[in-house]
Formats: sequence, C-alpha cells, structure tokens
Amino acid sequence: MALALAIIPLLVVPLLVDLSPGVETTFYTLNCLLWVAFVLEYGIWLYLALPLAALVTTGVLVLLAALWMVVSPARVEGSEGTGSGLVRGPSLPATGAPGARAARRADGLRQAFGSRSCCMSTTPGSILVGMHSLRTVAEAYRDRMMRKRLTWLAQRLRNDAVPPPWLLQSLVTCWMNPWSVDSDFLASMLRWYGKTSGPVLECGSGLTTLVLVTAAWTKARPLVTLEDDAMWKARIQAALPKRARSWLDCRVVPLVDYGDFDWYDVEAVNMPNKIGLVVCDGPKGTTRGGRYGLAPVMKDRLAPGCIVLLDDTSRGAERAIMEQWCAELPARVFYVSERYSAIEVGVTGSSFAE
Ligand SMILES: C[S@@+](CC[C@H](N)C(=O)[O-])C[C@H]1O[C@@H](n2cnc3c(N)ncnc32)[C@H](O)[C@@H]1O
Repeated sequence: MALALAIIPLLVVPLLVDLSPGVETTFYTLNCLLWVAFVLEYGIWLYLALPLAALVTTGVLVLLAALWMVVSPARVEGSEGTGSGLVRGPSLPATGAPGARAARRADGLRQAFGSRSCCMSTTPGSILVGMHSLRTVAEAYRDRMMRKRLTWLAQRLRNDAVPPPWLLQSLVTCWMNPWSVDSDFLASMLRWYGKTSGPVLECGSGLTTLVLVTAAWTKARPLVTLEDDAMWKARIQAALPKRARSWLDCRVVPLVDYGDFDWYDVEAVNMPNKIGLVVCDGPKGTTRGGRYGLAPVMKDRLAPGCIVLLDDTSRGAERAIMEQWCAELPARVFYVSERYSAIEVGVTGSSFAE
C-alpha cells in the first residue's frame, strides 16, 4: 500500500510542473527504487513460503509486474536514449520555444514511468498489484506466525500439558478475525476435548478449526468441520502446519432449506455417528434460523452425554436457540459465561459448573 501510494506523486508532479533536469533525474531514480522495492517484497513473499497454488496463481503475476516495471525504463533508454547517464528520449525544445512546456511534461512522465506506450496503462495496474501483493505478504506473514504457534500448541498437547493462556491469546491476536472466539473459549474447548471421546463436529470454521485440527493431529481423533464458504476453507488450510493438514476434514456444503430454517446440506456427505463434542459457531448469524439446525438435523448422530459448546450466547438469538435445543434434544445447560455456553445432550435439568 505504501509503495502504491508513493507512486502517485511520481505520476502527478511531472504532469503539473516543469521539472529541472536534476529533479527529473531524482524522480527517475525514485521510480527505479520503488520497483526494486516491489521485487524485494516479492523475495520476502517467497521466503514466507506461500502455498504452491497461491504462488502459481498470484506470485507469477506479481513477479512479472515487478520485473516489467524495473526493465521498462531501461528499455526506453535502450531504444531512444543517448546511451549515457540517465538522459533518455529525444532532446527537448529550448525553454520558451513553442510546445516546450508540453514536451517537458511528456518527458517527465516518460522518465518517471519509463515508457511512452505503457506509462498510462501500467500505473493504475501497478498500484493494484502493489496493494494486492502487500496484502498477500501480510497474510503470508500471519499464516507463518500461526503455523509456528500451532506447532508449539501441538507440542504441549502431545505432552498432555495445559496450553498457557499467553499462547491461546497469541493465537487469537495472530488470527485477527473479529468474529473469532476468544482465548477463554479456546481454553474451555481444549478442556472439553480432553474430557470427551468420539468424533468431534464443528459448525463454522476459523480459529477453532486451527486449534481442533492441531488437537486431532496430536490425539488422532476424528474431526469433521462444516463450512459453506470454500475460500474460507482455503484460508484455514494455509494457516495450518503442513503436517497437520491431513487432519483437516472440512466439508464445504451449501446452506439449504430445511423448512423452518436453513442449515448445512449434510445429506450428500458422510457424517460421523456418536459425536462426543460439538463446537458450534456457524452458520453465520444472518442465516435463516441461525444455528438452530444443529439439533433437528444432527440429533441422531450425537452421543448421549455429548457436549455442545455454543459461542455468542451473550446474544438473545443464540440464548433462544439454546433453550429450544434443551427442550428438543433433550439437553441441559451446565455452563454459562459472558460470551458462550455449554450444554450436555441427553440430560435434563440444569446446573452451572464446569
Ligand atoms: C463466526 S466465524 C467463526 C469461526 C470459528 N469458530 C472461529 O473462532 O474463528 C464462522 C463463519 O463465518 C464466516 N467468516 C468469518 N470470517 C470471515 C471472513 N473474514 N471472510 C469470510 N468468511 C468469514 C465463515 O464462513 C465461517 O463459517
């Protein structure tokens, strides 16, 4: 973004002002330095080890754009220049001569962007490429940090150690998603992961998926995640340590009409039975019926005593869903915090202790 913004004055100033040869040379040098910075950024991007697919789809594009920008001034110099120093193009009319000002503007532009034919078309494109590549670098950096922290988490889970709060908090900070659960939820989820058995079902993927996949990797416990957004699944895959990725079983299915509500279309996918733990943070709040569909659609696949962790019960809609579940499954609420709640399937009555 900063690189993209820095190009704007290089574009605009030569258009508006008659520049002295010294300033023009400075503009030209800055232009070259900017594109060298793009190439360096690309190097960092490679170092951060993007997934191969992302490298092929966007990496090659960014590399070509950066290389084009670096070589295009040289190309003009070679075809039109005097071959010495930084002076390029045909000589300009003397100051005061007819057309001198317009010629100088055109020359300033040419020097700033390197090519008569491409300067107007490549500059907006290059700004987009710059913004895109910077965002990709930030995401790659974040994924790298996530992978490192998840590897630390795996080491602790393998030794049956309780993950320290700072590690869980750093996962939340690193993931940077405002709709994610908090570290308190992650701690509770891992406690219940250790106390339950059987397959784990997750509704809505995100940070909880990263932590659950890491746990599945260390404990070899089946995990199925339901998600309706394929792009979101790809983001999660990129943030997982490579060796943990085979434990991600994220079923991307559409939300379909079940009569009074919409929920994940699980008819066509093979779902596990005797589920021991459910982490419910999806589908999105805007879905018709919200998260209600879990109970009517999955009821027969939940083991007696299955624990369901429901996020966002600070909201009235989620609290109402929880009450409906308790009546219909049946189930009892046994834990309520400011943000999330836990219910136990197959048991009635209520007690609030974890
Ligand atoms: C509320 S999020 C939370 C998921 C997870 N429990 C967590 O803690 O991160 C659940 C759903 O929101 C959607 N979602 C969340 N953030 C998104 C984003 N930045 N872009 C696209 N979809 C997003 C995904 O489709 C996902 O199924």
